[in-house]
Amino acid sequence: MDLFRKKVIQRESVTNLKKELKLKDLIMLGIGAIIGTGIFVVTGTASAEYAGPALILSFVVAGIVVVLSGLSFAEFASRIPVLGGAYSYLYVVFGEFTAWLAGWFLICEFLLAVSSVASGWSGYVQGFLASADIHLPTALTGGYDPSKGTYIDLIAGLVIIFVTLWVSQEAKKALRLNNAMVWVKFGVILLFIVFGAFFVEPDNWQPFMPFGFAGVFNGAALVFFAFLGFDAVAMAAEEVEDAKKNVPRGIIGSIAIATVLYIIVTLIMTGIVPFAELGVNDPVAFAMRYVGHGVVGSIISVGAILTLLTVTIAMMYSLARLLYAISKDGLLPKAMQAIDPKHKTPKKATYIAGVFAFFFAAAFPLNILAELTNIAALSYMILMSLGIIKLRKMMGPPAKGEFKVPLVPLLPLLSVASCLFLMTRLQTATWIVFGISLVIGIAIYFVYGYRNSELNEKIDE
Ligand code: ALA
Repeated sequence: MDLFRKKVIQRESVTNLKKELKLKDLIMLGIGAIIGTGIFVVTGTASAEYAGPALILSFVVAGIVVVLSGLSFAEFASRIPVLGGAYSYLYVVFGEFTAWLAGWFLICEFLLAVSSVASGWSGYVQGFLASADIHLPTALTGGYDPSKGTYIDLIAGLVIIFVTLWVSQEAKKALRLNNAMVWVKFGVILLFIVFGAFFVEPDNWQPFMPFGFAGVFNGAALVFFAFLGFDAVAMAAEEVEDAKKNVPRGIIGSIAIATVLYIIVTLIMTGIVPFAELGVNDPVAFAMRYVGHGVVGSIISVGAILTLLTVTIAMMYSLARLLYAISKDGLLPKAMQAIDPKHKTPKKATYIAGVFAFFFAAAFPLNILAELTNIAALSYMILMSLGIIKLRKMMGPPAKGEFKVPLVPLLPLLSVASCLFLMTRLQTATWIVFGISLVIGIAIYFVYGYRNSELNEKIDE
């Protein structure tokens, strides 16, 4: 049994995609994938229950952790420009089993992120409906949490059905919409910053750190979610003009822009509303209603509703293609490779993703979903950082013009340590679910993947 059989390194791209994305396009792609529920929804609970106004420090901590692994993504993307991101890179350096684990973590991350964003979307829709005095029965307003009387998040479930059907038919159209929505996203955030700045009461920033440093770090482990999606930039490596330079710049640039926006929005939000009152599902719009500007709040709600919808679409699109890619390598059932003859989309993979996303979005509250997404993402980021150390052993340092992670192995090890640290700040329940999903992932590999892998067939021939 060879768990570490490897794919051959392909230095040249394997498909003939046009290299037409420039740095600006990459940053737009990054921002499109990164900014979403994290800032529009998670910041509320994160400041009310975890970090208070010091949530801005949590964003700095989470941003540093993300940049540290972003560097590893950038070196991989610059040296092995193939589609598929983390999963494909690790297939090359560590071999099949580790690649499958990374692929499994990625599947979990995307699946849970789709569900989280749908759940955040539901929060804004419900806030918007409530401002028009329309209320759903409490039992249908959130994931399973009997203490709050909620059992199913109806709207989150419905949006998953809608997105699944749309992505399975008109994926490209949906993605184009996503690009346009980046501007709506910027517009809404800018409106909040410029308008909200007039209502900041510096007294609200006291106490600044009500939950101490522990709160700041717990907050960082939660709002880490807000940075996920940065690898969308690395995954596009093959379509990028001068990828060696532009991919790392795109990754670091979009993380930097997101961090600055997150810090300013959080400062203003906690400056307008005393942090303890921010534990709502639509905190950015809520802050506007709080100071009596319900109309601005509604504009922000509509903007958030549109942009979060497109983030859900983009994530569902990526998830379906990830399932498709892994299935092509033989590690998941062949059904997921089926391409719809009319729409040329991996329809079955999209439906399968939709069924699972529906379950998670409807049944779990957002905070749990966000934590689960994070633990899966942190796990594969650890594999990526270790992967850079191995890549250097296999291929030596990067050539001139390729992106180089500085101080290897120190920096990747620091990245591993920082990811592990954030993981330790997550709740026990998150670890239990993660443990179960790890066992399921390993079982799928041994029961199905190992036997059906494409590499297997090649060896047998
Ligand atoms: N970073 C993405 C968001 O915040 C997952 O919605």
